[in-house]
Amino acid sequence: MRGRFITLEGIEGVGKTTQVATVRATLEALQRPFVTTREPGGTPLAEDIRALVLAPREEAVPGSAELLLMFAARAVHVANLILPTLASGKDVVCDRFTDATYAYQGGGRHVPLPQVAALEAITHGGLQPDLTVLLDAAPALALQRAKRRGATDRFEAETVAFFDRVRAAYLERAAAEPARFVVIDATQPLAEVSAAVAAAVVAAAARWNAAAPAATPASTGAVAPEVEQPA
Ligand code: TMP
Repeated sequence: MRGRFITLEGIEGVGKTTQVATVRATLEALQRPFVTTREPGGTPLAEDIRALVLAPREEAVPGSAELLLMFAARAVHVANLILPTLASGKDVVCDRFTDATYAYQGGGRHVPLPQVAALEAITHGGLQPDLTVLLDAAPALALQRAKRRGATDRFEAETVAFFDRVRAAYLERAAAEPARFVVIDATQPLAEVSAAVAAAVVAAAARWNAAAPAATPASTGAVAPEVEQPA
């Protein structure tokens, strides 16, 4: 049986890294095998592209170039890690995916959304996340937290107005696809955010189990091939 694709989204400083750990712990408790990965990145080539696109530099980086680099990394990641892992029966937990491109390049950089959609269709036509957890907080608060971490990449250097647009674009996508998104208020105490994230995963897994055909003796004995873990 194909694995499920779970993504986490949100602006910098909302506690995404902590909540990736919550998703991992929840899947472990549910005894669902999974691989954790991130975007941009997730494979050696895609991580090289990540380093290129995030590094602070003197030269201007047009939104269109950012868009193409994000999707170049994604094309590699989808082909070499995400699809093989899902086909092996494991879930994929991905720290950001194409919703981030709609939010950052679309909302943040004003790249026209049909351009994002065109590259999405080329890069992963039929593949969409089964569950997307959006951690939501106002940029001013979230950026304070990111700065405390000593943030230094090209996006972390952006203005509050940029992140206001990114946040608005995320919320717009969540409103358009309520069945896929769970929006969680990331300004709650950490224990409450974690509990909400865990509950979202448990509820989704229950739906997936209910939708899955009953396991046959042949399918339960299958051993999934190993997939390389990203750094
Ligand atoms: P991270 O800090 O969460 O690992 O994400 C790296 C940065 O890349 C973050 O500022 C968001 C940005 N990004 C985009 O602008 N577009 C994308 O499609 C993705 C995946 C990330």
